[in-house]
Amino acid sequence: MINKNIHSICYGGDYNPEQWTEDVWVQDMELMKEAGVNFVSLAIFSWALLQPDENTFDFTFLDKIMDLLHSNGIYVDLATATASQPPWLSIAYDDVMPVSADGVKMTHGSRQTYCPNSRSWRNAASHLVRTLAARYKNHPALAMWHINNEYGCHTAECYCDNCAVSFRKWLQKRYKSVGIVNEKWGTRFWSQYYYKWDEIYPPRATMGKKNPSHVLDYKRFMSDSLLDCYSMEYEILRQITPELKITTNFLMGIDKLDYFKWAKEIDIISWDSYPDPAPSYNPALNAFDHDLMRGFGNGRPFILMEQAPAQVNWRDINVNKHPGLMRLYSYQAVGRGADGVMFFQWRQSLRGAEKFHSACITHSGDGNSRIFREVRQLGHELKKLNCITGSTRKADIAIVFDYENMWAFEYEDRQSKSVTYRDQILNWYKPLYEMNIPVDIVGTDSNLKGYKILLAPLLYMTKEGYAEKIKRFTADGGEYITTFSSSIVDEWDGVFPGGYPGPLKELLGITIEEFCPLTPDMKTTIALTDIDDTIPETSKARLWYDIIHIVDAEIFAVFSDALGKGYPAITYNYFGKGKAWYIGTETEPDFKKAFLSKICLRQNINSLFSLPEGVELNIREQNGKKYAFILNFSIKNASIDIMQNSYIDLLTGQKIHDRLIIESGNIRILEISS
Ligand code: GLA
Ligand code: ZN
Repeated sequence: MINKNIHSICYGGDYNPEQWTEDVWVQDMELMKEAGVNFVSLAIFSWALLQPDENTFDFTFLDKIMDLLHSNGIYVDLATATASQPPWLSIAYDDVMPVSADGVKMTHGSRQTYCPNSRSWRNAASHLVRTLAARYKNHPALAMWHINNEYGCHTAECYCDNCAVSFRKWLQKRYKSVGIVNEKWGTRFWSQYYYKWDEIYPPRATMGKKNPSHVLDYKRFMSDSLLDCYSMEYEILRQITPELKITTNFLMGIDKLDYFKWAKEIDIISWDSYPDPAPSYNPALNAFDHDLMRGFGNGRPFILMEQAPAQVNWRDINVNKHPGLMRLYSYQAVGRGADGVMFFQWRQSLRGAEKFHSACITHSGDGNSRIFREVRQLGHELKKLNCITGSTRKADIAIVFDYENMWAFEYEDRQSKSVTYRDQILNWYKPLYEMNIPVDIVGTDSNLKGYKILLAPLLYMTKEGYAEKIKRFTADGGEYITTFSSSIVDEWDGVFPGGYPGPLKELLGITIEEFCPLTPDMKTTIALTDIDDTIPETSKARLWYDIIHIVDAEIFAVFSDALGKGYPAITYNYFGKGKAWYIGTETEPDFKKAFLSKICLRQNINSLFSLPEGVELNIREQNGKKYAFILNFSIKNASIDIMQNSYIDLLTGQKIHDRLIIESGNIRILEISS
């Protein structure tokens, strides 16, 4: 539960009343109530107005709006306002502005531009947070804290002299001696050997390729530096308001922070979701991000902290959300585990960089718009879903996602730049999504108890302890599926001696002699070694293939042409009670689907309903009840056979008998009593 006073799904959005006069606030309160808003995020970008200079605070506007929201029954997710410092702070202290890798020092004039290792910034931010928390700790509207905003958005890296000093300290803590740094980074290569800590710099611009281990550690260090900024604020808030939940909003697609590590420090995961409304966009991508967010919180409900009511302003072409699409995506969020649906933003700005970003209240300034009507309808519907809050999801399949692995694999030079980590994960996620089989996303150190299948595509890096953990998982009866370019390096991006796939050789029962990346016009073919009724006998493959030698494994498919001809393409190895698969190429989506559905069948994993293409199913469960969110993303109406008649449509209260028609773009939420 987000707060003991809120018993329904949180609904509202970023509210920036400082951009408006007080008569507009009064109108906002009426419109918020009309739309069913019960929660707003406040003061995210208010620092400059709250603090005119280093020694003066002015809470006049915040006091008034907090009181006004409270008297209208609306709770506040109060931001700590540290996302963007006032110009006077950037100017007063030389260490505040960040420096890019090629040495350009930033200037004030945008937002979220500060060096995470600036002492002056941290001092000023903690002063603000302490003052703000002390002032509002007992305010009846305060329901949750929202630290900063989208850490890593805009400034995910800084290369200034301060960061150089902090990086050395970080390295000293991690490695104790320069000798170990030399060993882990392989600095005998290209004459990079260090004799003193002071010789080590951030990986700034240089003429040749940078040291990959150095770059990787710098990414870790930057993620940790921003996490330190977050933790600094968290500690202050925890002390002043021990009972309140604290969040910070994650964003997707930047992938610069190790969110699995961050999530351990966050009470409620929240994130900002901006699926492209263009027809070519696949809703599976957004579904994946929701699953990832739920994974960060070990399955706990999260908050959809921001979504656009209609279009955004920052794509090359800002396609508008057609009627019903915002509602569809809102239910995708709730179905995948969100206990809150929030917008960026409540009222559309008239000035500034985001004036064409959609908002619940459009430039017309009133509630007379298609967008507001859709916001109001959704607000009223969500009020009928109190039973959903706190419910969770169950999955038999998990996919491993690891940031450090991504950072290491995606080094500036690699075997193939056509291979990216996220795509590899998504290529395996999408067939499961299309089959409506629930999936959890887990980190390399997550608990695997209860999963029957674990997929680890492109797990290039094998961290210490991981191989043993996966061997246990498989020996206990699990099925482990991994793919090409896995288990090549250790956590410092050093290749395992003795050949690939490093410490997973025994589990997989194979060795890999060479890898062969393919250009888009090069294809290969795989052929199954045994006839199987459900999987095509031959299938095209692309992107990459490995030259695999069998040690103990069985061959499932072989390459039938090119350099790999006759070599195994897919293998499996019995290990204890389970099986470990290796897929040595990029198979086609149809193949993956057939392959996974066969494994799911054997493991007794299936979808609750059989649904037409483009119809997404999400199940949440609580107190012996299941809640099925059926979302029709397709352009056709969907007809669904319902076998039992004990289903209740939660929005209409009606019982559902035998058949259900869901129009294109529409949704149904069914309560299923078991
Ligand atoms: C991000 C930010 C918001 C706003 C939106 C616009 O998610 O957190 O402040 O800029 O993008 O889409
Ligand atoms: Zn810096």
